[in-house]
Amino acid sequence: MRVDEAVASRLRQKHVVLGVTGSIAAYKAVGLASALVQAGATVDVIMTEAATRMVQPLSFQAITHRPVHVDLFAPLAETEIGHVTLGQQADLLLVAPATANTLAKLALGLADNLLTTTALAARCPIVVAPAMETAMWHHAATQDHLATLRQRGVIVVEPEAGYLASGKSGAGRLADERRILATVARLFTPQDLAGRHIVVTAGGTREAIDPVRFISNASSGRMGYAVAEAAAQRGARVTLISTVRHLPAPFWVDVEPVESARQMRDAVLAAIPQADALLMAAAVADYRPADVAPQKRKKGSDEWVLRLVPNPDILEEVKATKPPGLVVVGWAAETHDLIENARSKLRRKDLDLIVANPVPQTFGSDRVQATLLFRDGTIVPLEPLSKVALANRILDIVAERLRHRR
Ligand SMILES: Cc1cc2nc3c(=O)[nH]c(=O)nc-3n(C[C@H](O)[C@H](O)[C@H](O)COP(=O)(O)O)c2cc1C
Repeated sequence: MRVDEAVASRLRQKHVVLGVTGSIAAYKAVGLASALVQAGATVDVIMTEAATRMVQPLSFQAITHRPVHVDLFAPLAETEIGHVTLGQQADLLLVAPATANTLAKLALGLADNLLTTTALAARCPIVVAPAMETAMWHHAATQDHLATLRQRGVIVVEPEAGYLASGKSGAGRLADERRILATVARLFTPQDLAGRHIVVTAGGTREAIDPVRFISNASSGRMGYAVAEAAAQRGARVTLISTVRHLPAPFWVDVEPVESARQMRDAVLAAIPQADALLMAAAVADYRPADVAPQKRKKGSDEWVLRLVPNPDILEEVKATKPPGLVVVGWAAETHDLIENARSKLRRKDLDLIVANPVPQTFGSDRVQATLLFRDGTIVPLEPLSKVALANRILDIVAERLRHRR
């Protein structure tokens, strides 16, 4: 799996102890270890005896380039990195998959193997990702132990419902690797947008011609998704108003699907009264077909002339109705006179900040050479950045504005 940049940027140079227990899902921990290593983390794996029956320690050793720890009483392990030091030096203890048995031991504070002893000695955050059969998952004992662990601050990445090793379907399947990594990354992210509600728009709007045809533009939606994901990672409650169907929804983000500019306008105006910031990364069509045919137009030899009418200007309507203190960020995608056009849009629409991008280079690309223009006239040209890095730069400014608003 290619590791998401938003995740990798938070895990670089972190020291993660990965605890692997005797679940049939232990093989998935090999992929997880690889993703952590690819993200730049140092990974020390501790396996329980039962885990070594499922997967060979050598697999983890080959991936992490470090010895794998199993035996609490191994003299070498104890002299090199004792059970106490391992837990105390780490930035994170991640137990994935976590069996019902190990969860019970952790809740009770038992220390009868290297993993549970390390957990008891650890001073770092602990994340557990349980995996087990549905009946074990729903058992009152398992749920009580999880409640105890949560109460102590342990973060639980809930298992998903799906196909299980037994051949049945139900709750208990190890959470998706992306979700586990996103949870870990969030732990290492300053929560400077906690308690804030951020509304983000993404994608090019689709303006219907008939039931199967539409006019749209080349916007991929990746900028808006990067902003939404980064804001959620920084603790914000995020509403993502999106026309995009091909990108996975970022975790902890409420996605509101829309298609046309008018639907997007309605969704934005409904969301902003409770919001702290609006980031309009969507490419909203300026025009739409004047008439939408109720049926698919059949092929013919005649010319087909489409008449277009202007769409509502969402940011103009936001300007007229926005609650006091709402921080509004717009984007200007221009093929020519980029800075002039962006400055004029910033003023006309009373924005706090506008992100000027040259197009078509920016559409669909991972890197952007953006220029930031502020309300007070300041212009900041940025170095070429990934959309994730640019999203975080923009959110730094939004967080700063919101801090000063109080
Ligand atoms: C093939 C097989 C698959 C198992 N899968 C799971 C599982 O997914 N989740 C679980 O909680 N226990 C599972 N168990 C039971 C655990 O291996 C058993 O409870 C063991 O004592 C766990 O030890 P540990 O927590 O020290 O790793 C499985 C057992 C076998 C034989």
